[in-house]
Amino acid sequence: MPTVAEIREMAGEEPITMLTAYDAVTAEVVDEAGVDITLVGDSMGNAVLGYDSTLPVTVDEVASRTGAVARGTEEALVVADMPFLSVGVDEAESIEHCGRMLKEEGAQAVKIESGPHTVELTERLVNLGIPVMAHLGLTPQSVNQVGGYTRQGTSEEAAREIVDLAERHEAAGAFSLVLEHVPANLAEAVTESLDIPTIGIGAGPDCDGQVLVINDVVGLSDWVPPFADEFGDVRSEMEAAVDEYLDAVEGGQFPAAEHSHHEDDLDELY
Ligand code: KIV
Repeated sequence: MPTVAEIREMAGEEPITMLTAYDAVTAEVVDEAGVDITLVGDSMGNAVLGYDSTLPVTVDEVASRTGAVARGTEEALVVADMPFLSVGVDEAESIEHCGRMLKEEGAQAVKIESGPHTVELTERLVNLGIPVMAHLGLTPQSVNQVGGYTRQGTSEEAAREIVDLAERHEAAGAFSLVLEHVPANLAEAVTESLDIPTIGIGAGPDCDGQVLVINDVVGLSDWVPPFADEFGDVRSEMEAAVDEYLDAVEGGQFPAAEHSHHEDDLDELY
């Protein structure tokens, strides 16, 4: 299992691979494939919990999914994504929520959607032994503030603010930084200005690593953002298997003799 120190050292060396997972089986699949980091993303809100944003996701939901992912993981670093308002409101509560992911659920680090309000919190968490992955650019928990899931850092002022916040989170002790939906040249500039690795999603090819949502990668989503790609078609595979099962039950082919057990002694019961 890579430690956060090993992930930090991968900056500028080999590409870091990160994927989300929300259950033990998927965690096993991505782990066996050799992913470096498995993120228990709050994207679970849209991906598996049926919400239309990440805002309703609770600490209990992330905790339960983090435990499942940790149980399905042998090698990858497991990072729990802190949901909306679980951090940043009250320091003691933020520490308790983040600490729970490591103490009770088996994560090795937390990810926090970052801003000016998370610099001091990052330092406090790191000092307490809770490694922090920062997240700048598009931070979906701010959708109502921002007014949509739009590209960030497109003006000079906004780009400078992202560079500044990235440097402040590095100084506060974050071990890595997710950059979401920002121009590729901004991501390149941030990557060059930091020693810790950047992990991009919709941030071009020059980050130290890449992350995508597992449902998009395997072809399970009904909509895929323009910066992602599908590398499989699991939804069609599932639809075909379910259709075949229904046909087999309705047509009387399932269960067949090999799926059933006959106990001779019971023949006289009726
Ligand atoms: O919740 C999530 O899956 C994320 C990644 C897309 C970075 O935050």
